[in-house]
Amino acid sequence: MKKKIVFSGIQPTGLLTIGNYIGALSQWKKLQKKYFCIYCIADLHALTIYQKENVLNKNILDTLSVCLASGIDPKKNIIFIQSHVSQHTQLNWILNCFTNFGVLKRMTQFKKKIHLNKNINAGLFSYPILMAADILLYQTYKVPVGKDQIQHIELVRDIAYRFNKTYGKKIFTIPKKKLHENYGSCIMSLLSPMTKMSKSDDNKNNIITLFDSDLTIRKKIQHAVTDSDNPPNIKFDLKNKPGISNLLIILSNITEISIQKLEYYFYKKNYHDLKEFIIFNLCFFLKKFRKKFFLYRKNETLLKSIIINGAQKAEKYAKSTLKKVHNIIGLNIK
Ligand code: TRP
Repeated sequence: MKKKIVFSGIQPTGLLTIGNYIGALSQWKKLQKKYFCIYCIADLHALTIYQKENVLNKNILDTLSVCLASGIDPKKNIIFIQSHVSQHTQLNWILNCFTNFGVLKRMTQFKKKIHLNKNINAGLFSYPILMAADILLYQTYKVPVGKDQIQHIELVRDIAYRFNKTYGKKIFTIPKKKLHENYGSCIMSLLSPMTKMSKSDDNKNNIITLFDSDLTIRKKIQHAVTDSDNPPNIKFDLKNKPGISNLLIILSNITEISIQKLEYYFYKKNYHDLKEFIIFNLCFFLKKFRKKFFLYRKNETLLKSIIINGAQKAEKYAKSTLKKVHNIIGLNIK
């Protein structure tokens, strides 16, 4: 039987955190077992923030290497750069005309971004429509995303549904969102575990990047917020023990030991024991990860052949969908 399609994207911006790894990449890797996976490095989405030429170039290759080091297999699946497949921007325009202005205006991400940004460009506003083009071009069945993207996926479903209904034909598959199974979409910041760990956080003690040294990891985990329960209690309870729960989620995802087993193991132990165990495992994990990362990153010939090949494979799918769209709209005069 033909495998169903999974599609997702990641922006090539800045240093990725352990939150990005757990929330997105580790999940991307797992999905390869069951689905045919198409993953894109969303460089066009990154343009909503001003990018310097050589920085964007470097970030794209860094992000690609991070994906490969995380275990994305370009032989069995597809990994490509969004701007290399021109059908994304072509479908984007058409979908603009099937997107309700009012609905777009209500996107919470957009509302947040216009508060934070000085450069309020139209790209920030129409950003989810490009996501719709990304997803719909591939007849995607499932989209692994973090919580912050749920509303965008709802919008994509709405656009696909509206388009199909207008023409009375199933041109697009209506995609479903896929959230992380092991609380991975809520890796929280170390010092304030009620807010999300974010690579753009100004306080770098809140985040662990994939490139932090062992010493830095040790310092950051040692300072991570726990609680003052007496006696100490290593128990998963997101509401009442957000710090400890966050540490358990990180540990569970890195070691692939279930949270329940970890609770059992740390029964009657103290927070220092938990932190030492996390430090050991994180350092071990990241050392292995970085070794793989640098092997790929050094080999630009290999990276380039992977993305050329990826774009060629992706284009076949994208072309076929775009053709159907052109035909049904009446853009295809022969
Ligand atoms: N907008 C997503 C983000 O910032 C990245 C992205 C681009 C994406 N295209 C996508 C995610 C398609 C899922 C599907 O995280």
